[in-house]
Amino acid sequence: MAVLTDTFELNNGTKIPKVGFGTWQIPDGAEAYNSVLTALKQGYRHIDTAKAYGNEKSVGKAIRDSGIARKDIFVTSKLPAAIKDRDGVLQAFNETFNDLDIGYLDLYIIHAPWPWGDIGSNHDKGNIEAWKAMEEIYKTGKVKAIGVSNFNVHDLENILKDAEITPAIDQIQYYVGFTEPKITKFCKEHGIQVEAYSPLATGDMKSNSTLKELADKYSVSIPQLALRFVIQNDVLPLPKATHEAHIKANKQLDFEISAEDMKTLNALPDTAPTHFHNETQG
Ligand SMILES: NC(=O)c1ccc[n+]([C@@H]2O[C@H](COP(=O)([O-])OP(=O)(O)OC[C@H]3O[C@@H](n4cnc5c(N)ncnc54)[C@H](OP(=O)(O)O)[C@@H]3O)[C@@H](O)[C@H]2O)c1
Repeated sequence: MAVLTDTFELNNGTKIPKVGFGTWQIPDGAEAYNSVLTALKQGYRHIDTAKAYGNEKSVGKAIRDSGIARKDIFVTSKLPAAIKDRDGVLQAFNETFNDLDIGYLDLYIIHAPWPWGDIGSNHDKGNIEAWKAMEEIYKTGKVKAIGVSNFNVHDLENILKDAEITPAIDQIQYYVGFTEPKITKFCKEHGIQVEAYSPLATGDMKSNSTLKELADKYSVSIPQLALRFVIQNDVLPLPKATHEAHIKANKQLDFEISAEDMKTLNALPDTAPTHFHNETQG
């Protein structure tokens, strides 16, 4: 279970547990509360939510009720993608801060460089303004690190031109066969940790003979192989699960994929070809 408490170090020295627990599409109320509480009881110490998921109140309550010291849990939330002006950012953050009600956030990230209804539209100016406001929030001490999500190389270069603080994180779509090499290379060169969202392709990952063969070789399931693959690429997976069996399975990642097998996995074509792809990240 060490994998749940092992950490990556962010560019400001903050430690972040190597596996996060995703909460997208987990409805507010009992379902979000129970999933997060189960995950925490099972040893997860890193929870990923967003204002857009509408479940921050239940996520926060589960964290407060868990009995685990606040300092031992890493919590991320996200600025809604459409908000690109300073006042809007500060207001959305305050709402998130109050809804979570956990004293501080470990990480706050811009959900996307464009509104979800207009993927790929240009908001360079707005993203610079939003990033300045994120820096302002960081300086209050209410968040321990700030970052971005769904930013491609252009989006990162755009904010870095004017940034006082380099984003600590870029959270992007990333799974076996869809590993965004341009973004991950740029992030590595600039000290930005990559997080893998949808590391199981939101359940759309297809079994194929190579995945099956390698999963069998290590006596694990394909999802476990897929999560371990992400970690060994120095990327941080954020699996989401509501079923307790999945929550338990996804923490059993203390095995090592050989360098040769990592090479094979890194060369695989998209393992979820029918899945929604964020085309702006190529
Ligand atoms: N920044 C962004 O724009 C963005 C976008 C998408 C996602 N995210 C983050 O990334 C997280 C994960 O991505 P995701 O929600 O797209 O999904 P995912 O983690 O790729 O896949 C979740 C699906 O896989 C199933 N599953 C989980 N573990 C399994 C296992 N061991 N065996 C078989 N099936 C398993 C889940 O089932 P059950 O739920 O039924 O257990 C669910 O249907 C999100 O929850 C969110 O926090 C961020």
